[in-house]
Amino acid sequence: MVRETSGKVTMEKLVSLCKRRGFIFQSSEIYGGISACWDYGPLGVELKNNVKAAWWKSMVQERDDVVGLDASILMHAKTWVASGHVTGFADAMVDCKGCQQRWRADEIRDNKCPACDGELTEPRMFNLMFKTFMGPVEEEAGLVYLRPETAQGIFVNFHNVLQATRKKLPFGIAQIGKAFRNEITPGNFIFRTREFEQMELEYFVKPETDEEWFRYWVEERFRWYIDLGIEKENLRLRQHTKDELAHYARDCYDVEYLFPMGWAELEGIANRTDFDLRQHSSFSGEDLSYFDEETRERIIPYVIEPSGGVDRTALAFLVDAYHEEEVEGETRVVLRFHPALAPIKVAVLPLSRNEKLVPPAQQLYHELRKCWMVNYDDAQSIGRRYRRQDEIGTPFCVTIDFQSLEDNQVTIRERDTLRQIRVPIESLKPTLDAKLSGEPLDVLPPGGSYWLGFEG
Ligand code: GAP
Repeated sequence: MVRETSGKVTMEKLVSLCKRRGFIFQSSEIYGGISACWDYGPLGVELKNNVKAAWWKSMVQERDDVVGLDASILMHAKTWVASGHVTGFADAMVDCKGCQQRWRADEIRDNKCPACDGELTEPRMFNLMFKTFMGPVEEEAGLVYLRPETAQGIFVNFHNVLQATRKKLPFGIAQIGKAFRNEITPGNFIFRTREFEQMELEYFVKPETDEEWFRYWVEERFRWYIDLGIEKENLRLRQHTKDELAHYARDCYDVEYLFPMGWAELEGIANRTDFDLRQHSSFSGEDLSYFDEETRERIIPYVIEPSGGVDRTALAFLVDAYHEEEVEGETRVVLRFHPALAPIKVAVLPLSRNEKLVPPAQQLYHELRKCWMVNYDDAQSIGRRYRRQDEIGTPFCVTIDFQSLEDNQVTIRERDTLRQIRVPIESLKPTLDAKLSGEPLDVLPPGGSYWLGFEG
């Protein structure tokens, strides 16, 4: 009954669906838009929150050795001198003398403009940090940067967290927050933007254990994407070559995803050695060492850093979830999100707008939304309403029909298989809870039955 069609996801299809259904809009669209900035709409904000919640759950909530932090975006300007960003966080760029387009020098082949074959200027270094001024006067003394990574907020708080929590090595500090980069060539929708969110863990370890922890985090982070439903064949690991490594890194693996434009970085896992803590110790004059009670020595911990982008991860989940299928002779677009990521978990659909069906359906809706994000929809045919929910990735639809008024039962329809079961209303909440946590639809609550639903 359900057949996957050959309709592969393209960026155009995704951008269009995201706008139409309220996932993602171009920023400042009514003014003609602003390059490489995007706004998350009603469904997008739910998806993004779910991505962040899933990361936090696995990286902080379920671990003894990681604590959270939320540092400010604006930091002392010296931070970025110490971190190496003021001198080192720059890309070489070239301009086309013909069409005036700007390119990253490392994107250029044959020294010609990729757009018009025109002659290019000599490469110039361009720092990617956004500058602004603190206080009323725009003067050098008030210069601050919008952080280009959240990591430095963690390093400068290393001692505060250590003292407050009395953690012993190995332990980590996790943070999710905005970062800003004045990218020369942003693009591919939310893949490379100038304002984005990062999810970063700085995991502090004893120096001689760095390689072992590095391997651990590479595996752990790869598994996180698979556990949340990314197809294995769309994910791979790639080790950085020596000349690709960032100035602070001894080793780095990228988790790459097969986006519509090809394989590209989703997350980097780097061995940052003791570079950052040493730099901040030396620039601030504060001792950022750790007293090892076993050896009775002070050491500077090494750092393993898994660093991912919220927006890029949301894009990968959108791409991976997108499927076009043929159902009863018609094409349906379905986002097969993992239930933890689905913006809306359940939709309540009365079979029609009949005055007898609407009140109990409304009552159910109000009851269920105490637990989850729930949609209520009674407009148009049931089939069209199912399609609308499929297109936004809602895992379950609950339907109330005339028989429900007599037997106090409702149907639950599963997004991916289109199969339905019928369950007593009093067991609806625990049943949905179990199904959203991965229990197969076949497992019935007492009094439940299999149902021959139709897609109407
Ligand atoms: N603290 C290390 C660090 O920032 P990075 O590889 O430059 O490393 C980490 O960035 C992650 O942040 C990337 O893997 C990507 O997911 C995300 N990211 C970086 N630049 C981005 C941009 N311009 N737009 C969207 N996401 C970006």
